[in-house]
Amino acid sequence: MTGTERPDAVTAEQQHIPVLLKEVVEALVPKDGGVYVDGTFGGGGYTTAILEAAQSVVWAIDRDPHALENGRKLGEKYPARLHLVPGRFGDMAELLTSRGVSTVDGVALDIGVSSMQIDDRARGFSFLRDGPLDMRMESSGRSAADVVNDMPEKELSDIIFTYGEERHARRVARAIVTARRERPISRTLRLADVIRAAVRRAHDGIDPATRTFQALRIYVNDELGELERGLSAAERLLKPGGRLAVVSFHSLEDRIVKTFLRSRSVSADQPSRHAPAMLAPHSPVRATFKPLGRRPVVPGENEIAHNPRARSARMRVAERTAATALTAIVGGRA
Ligand SMILES: C[S@@+](CC[C@H](N)C(=O)[O-])C[C@H]1O[C@@H](n2cnc3c(N)ncnc32)[C@H](O)[C@@H]1O
Repeated sequence: MTGTERPDAVTAEQQHIPVLLKEVVEALVPKDGGVYVDGTFGGGGYTTAILEAAQSVVWAIDRDPHALENGRKLGEKYPARLHLVPGRFGDMAELLTSRGVSTVDGVALDIGVSSMQIDDRARGFSFLRDGPLDMRMESSGRSAADVVNDMPEKELSDIIFTYGEERHARRVARAIVTARRERPISRTLRLADVIRAAVRRAHDGIDPATRTFQALRIYVNDELGELERGLSAAERLLKPGGRLAVVSFHSLEDRIVKTFLRSRSVSADQPSRHAPAMLAPHSPVRATFKPLGRRPVVPGENEIAHNPRARSARMRVAERTAATALTAIVGGRA
């Protein structure tokens, strides 16, 4: 989900509205007896739709224990067909093979955070609601407060620039370092105020805190690394003809998906420059995916009017070929 928030977009009581739901289900073409991975269970929107579309089985993964806890009721509704799996989608191949599943018919990924996570002030994702500066989806590891208070200024600036695409990253990092000298920054609203004092609101009206909060969230949860691992894991798990559908919310994520699919959709007698370096110099490379559609699928006006958080979404879909997964050739993670 995008880091951009609007106070009027969602209230704390509302549930997550799945983005591009119809398009994702159409892309996966669920069939009776088919086995699917929903790598980002969240509020269970995709999972429910896949289970309803056919007599299928869904392995639903989420790294956030709260999301899976909320999904238990759904598990009771589809006792033999829905399996809730705690963990990261980057590990989906291991998570499934350890449960006796070595191939699947479809994988869906809906990258980012859910409305429930953003709206819960105690999780610390929101720059509009005061809460502890946390942002950890798994509630373990380094929090956003740890990063903001301990990281050297240059590194902080690089993260804000790279993951937030913030032009004024240096200015923001300098302001954070000055503020933390006074006292540690432990609350979301204090950080948002520090950023707003350093960077003026642009003409597009986007809150200046948006980009830095996005950067910290991506860094704290290693979201881009997870996406790369998730794509490779899907390559290993999908059967020939199986479908991969990935919904992303900003250009950094979409670029990773696009580059991955481009690199996996070329066959050559010599490895392409995108192929893993460990491949033997003369091994032939066979395309493992066939991208479906030249351009990403985006939500229509109706969906955006109904769900403003959908406005930056884009979905890419590809079909697995019969070629051996590249990561399987080199024997492990990409
Ligand atoms: C945008 S929401 C998904 C919403 C879902 N498609 C629905 O229809 O309700 C993203 C969810 O993915 C989870 N998530 C994000 N990165 C993850 C990862 N690497 N592994 C597993 N779950 C992840 C988040 O905790 C969150 O619950």
